[in-house]
Amino acid sequence: MSSISVRNAASIVTFPGSGPLRGEALETVSTMAEACVNCSGDRITSIGDSADAAIEIDASGCTVTPGFVDPHTHLPFYGWRADEDAARLSGVRYETLHREEGGIFRSARMLADATDEDVLSFCEGLARSMLQRGTTTFETKSGYGLSVEAELRQLRLARELGRRVPQKLVSTCLAAHAVPKGRSAGEWAGQAANTLLPVAAEEGLASACDIYVESIAFALEHAARLAETSRELGLRMRVHADQLEDGQSAAFAARWGFASADHLNHTSLPAVGDLAVSDTAAVLLPGATFTLRQNKKPPARNLIDEGAIVALGTDLNPGTSPIHSMPFVIALACRVYGLRPLEALAGATVNAAFVLGVDHEVGRLSAGQRADIVVLDSPTPDALPYRPDHDPVLAVICAGELAYVAPRAEARIKR
Ligand code: NIG
Ligand code: FE
Repeated sequence: MSSISVRNAASIVTFPGSGPLRGEALETVSTMAEACVNCSGDRITSIGDSADAAIEIDASGCTVTPGFVDPHTHLPFYGWRADEDAARLSGVRYETLHREEGGIFRSARMLADATDEDVLSFCEGLARSMLQRGTTTFETKSGYGLSVEAELRQLRLARELGRRVPQKLVSTCLAAHAVPKGRSAGEWAGQAANTLLPVAAEEGLASACDIYVESIAFALEHAARLAETSRELGLRMRVHADQLEDGQSAAFAARWGFASADHLNHTSLPAVGDLAVSDTAAVLLPGATFTLRQNKKPPARNLIDEGAIVALGTDLNPGTSPIHSMPFVIALACRVYGLRPLEALAGATVNAAFVLGVDHEVGRLSAGQRADIVVLDSPTPDALPYRPDHDPVLAVICAGELAYVAPRAEARIKR
């Protein structure tokens, strides 16, 4: 069995305890110094004194964190839409591109026209690049199918992607993303609930259902329809909420016991109160705010200060967030949304794992958790927001394997 020991770190971000970090628990988070993280097989065995190991990593002067968990991506998709971004930079609105059957509809056509192998090799390249940036768990979604068969194909591609990359993948059926042409929103939501979700659940293709609530897409009544079916099928429920307008989706999600409400640019302060007293996580996606150049930011400080569970994700997709680096998202969350470094790190690890329902297994550095570990090249996490365009990752351990070593860190590895 392989064994790895990460030694002499200047700070180790362990996040002791269990469950998500919010309120006071988040305020008192601190780092450990000069300790060792020991792994055997795919698990962390101890934090503290150094143990003998086949591979030793000298982490002196470094910060050691749990592997990043990206709780919101739109992988698998195929191809980019840089021309749409250029159009937006010339003043065209995202909503206009959507109504003209660009946007999500265009990604659906690109996915339909690509072979399975094309899609998988495109996505595998992205997943490997995410790994080098410290992401050891990420969410995948459907939503670029727009028919029952095409949504299921996308979910099966996600499952195959999970067999090809070392990361842990958690799959969501984004059952209602864009209203398929020639259909009404209600008609499609009904078909998604009656036909798509039961197959996705039965085949184990998804552990959650998601919906895009926006005036260009679906309404809260459709979220309610999908939520009822999801409850029966044992699927978690998530929502793309209040991204382009205040659709009251975050408050709705909190009251209906959704796992998360994501985006939240237009979420009102009363809705922050609803989230704060609920177990519905607020998933912030600053890469989309940055890409769409949205002036309206989520009430991020209010969410943290009032005690909501806050997580961070990339929202990696070819339209609103062609961004796959969690260190960059952490930097944006601090610089643009006003999070503090340890709050952002909790959002990118333990709280993101909670969103995906896998916090018993990943997101913390403690004995028994999956050995997913990132070594960063500065003595404290303060450097993450401070140097947003710097690649801080020196080494990544994923499921107990040394999955990546930056060329400049080779001398730190003893095999
Ligand atoms: O999370 N806005 C809805 N869904 C995605 C964008 C999808 C796309 O433009 O392809 C999002 O921002
Ligand atoms: Fe999204």
